[in-house]
Amino acid sequence: MPKPIIMDHPLVQHKLAVLRDKNTGSKEFRELINELATLMCYDATRDLPLEEVTVETPMAPARCKMLAGRKLAIVPILRAGMGMVEGILTLVPSARVGHIGLYRDPQTHQPVEYYCKLPADIEERDIFVLDPMLATGGSAVDAIRQIKAKGGKNIRFLCIIAAPEGLEALTKAHPDVQVYCAALDDCLNENKYILPGLGDAGDRIYGTY
Ligand code: PRP
Ligand code: URA
Repeated sequence: MPKPIIMDHPLVQHKLAVLRDKNTGSKEFRELINELATLMCYDATRDLPLEEVTVETPMAPARCKMLAGRKLAIVPILRAGMGMVEGILTLVPSARVGHIGLYRDPQTHQPVEYYCKLPADIEERDIFVLDPMLATGGSAVDAIRQIKAKGGKNIRFLCIIAAPEGLEALTKAHPDVQVYCAALDDCLNENKYILPGLGDAGDRIYGTY
């Protein structure tokens, strides 16, 4: 079972601090979520395979390395995961984008499915599932179950803040999935919100308080 990778780069930690601040408004919040997604994607793709190529510079042939044609898919969990998409596409513009629609029932806190559209060749792709928040883990567990049911295999989960409860649930249900986060927070409150967290990510992105 892979350990979660907590991204402790100073830029990630600085941006996360501003993101958490209750005085950060929606515009800056959206920008920060995308910037964090870009920085996290940079690190989470460090093991993509390379192949040797020769490139003609204006001076001479140069032996170089390029990505070995691996196909990527990113799958945001709606709504809040959408906030990370542009930040990832900045680095991997050829990635295909699937969407999984889920919301947490406010009473039961269980995920309710409302949409799933994935690239047709999902089984051939390295998949990055995106959601800023891993709270109980219910949404992530269900989204990854749906992706696997459609043939997805090589799956990573990128979140910004994880709670211990969510991390445990996710690694128990999907031990093959590598989790990346910028912070592992303390716990959940009685409403299953992460403490200290950042509040409701979807509401802060879209201003729907
Ligand atoms: C939030 C968040 C995750 C989920 C995490 O979404 O973006 O998808 O909660 O909680 P969990 O780990 O307990 O499942 P929410 O249900 O608020 O929907 P939204 O993104 O549409 O606001
Ligand atoms: N969803 C959020 O947006 N925030 C939390 O703290 C928990 C679930």
